[in-house]
Amino acid sequence: EKGGWPSFMAKEISEDPEAIENTIRGRFHEGRVTLPDLDALGEGYFREIDRIIIVACGTAYYSGQTAAYMLEKWSRIPVQVELAHEFRYRDPVVDERCLIVSLSQSGETMDTLMAVRFARERGAKTLSICNTQGATIPRESDAVVYTHAGPEVAVASTKAFVAQIAAIYLLALHAAQARQTLTDAEVAHILAEFETIPDKVREVLQHHDRIRELANWMADTRSVLYLGRNTGFPIALEGALKLKEIAYIHAEGFAAGELKHGPIALIEPGQPVFVLVPSPRYDDTLHPKIVSNIQEIRARGARVLAVAEVSDAAVLPIADEVFTVPPTDPAFEPLLHVVPLQIFALELSTAKGLDVDQPRNLAKSVTVE
Ligand code: F6R
Repeated sequence: EKGGWPSFMAKEISEDPEAIENTIRGRFHEGRVTLPDLDALGEGYFREIDRIIIVACGTAYYSGQTAAYMLEKWSRIPVQVELAHEFRYRDPVVDERCLIVSLSQSGETMDTLMAVRFARERGAKTLSICNTQGATIPRESDAVVYTHAGPEVAVASTKAFVAQIAAIYLLALHAAQARQTLTDAEVAHILAEFETIPDKVREVLQHHDRIRELANWMADTRSVLYLGRNTGFPIALEGALKLKEIAYIHAEGFAAGELKHGPIALIEPGQPVFVLVPSPRYDDTLHPKIVSNIQEIRARGARVLAVAEVSDAAVLPIADEVFTVPPTDPAFEPLLHVVPLQIFALELSTAKGLDVDQPRNLAKSVTVE
């Protein structure tokens, strides 16, 4: 069943490209997104709402945080992302002009289900993005867009994460078409790039052997930090979660801009820090800021493990290791950047001789509140 891989998690990471491919397949034609799954929300629905709230837990929460950047940017609908178990206990403003999007691989997470029920009681429509046909959350929602990542067996979620981001991007483009917040040419351009992403993820998977060597060498590491900006921030949080879950190593993700507001005090000689570097080609503001963050932590002795675009000449000389990703539109960078972090957690857990697929204290589906 593991198809020759030593663990389900290893197999599932190798399926990241297909998870994206199968989630977008058949859902756009001739430069336009077509998602009949959303018809259930009603004609003209996306022109009527004034807010989207994404609710989810764990890795699904981080995919929501990541995809929220483009959902808001493309649709011009204000988007909030909330931990499902915090959401319903704070008397949030939720009404019929608000769409609740729940993200869940299993579709059975009790915290997320309770947030969906709460929102329906308040009169909001609910959209489920789910990887499991016929699960409880999609059954109780007004509409559902399935991710087609295939069954995910390992407790640590990987291919479902990238599929969730892909599904929200489709939702974002659908909403942008309905609200005319992107031109036809812009949508067509984004979709053309979207189609190339599975192959670009395949290229990033080629780093597996080198990441294994790094992880073997780092088997005694006590703490790893992750830094990112913009969509790189939730990717940093997700990378840290993966490491905690399966390698039992203290790990934290930070928004790189927060460094000087506190976390830089943690940096001491030898501290490994993953840094997610946005492409220098599109952005003349974020990239130099990340480069100076790298210089700041390096000056204090950090061991810099960078994920950067293949032609990024500024990062090569200042990082200890660079895992390169092919050039893409910044919207799709998170789908490439998360891959080395998934592999790193897998290989560090393996190097420590742990059970990668069944980490202690965790269950695949959390059906209690
Ligand atoms: C992380 C992980 C958990 C789940 C979370 C939500 O690797 O597996 O954090 O992401 O429990 O689960 P779903 O997506 O099934 O609602």
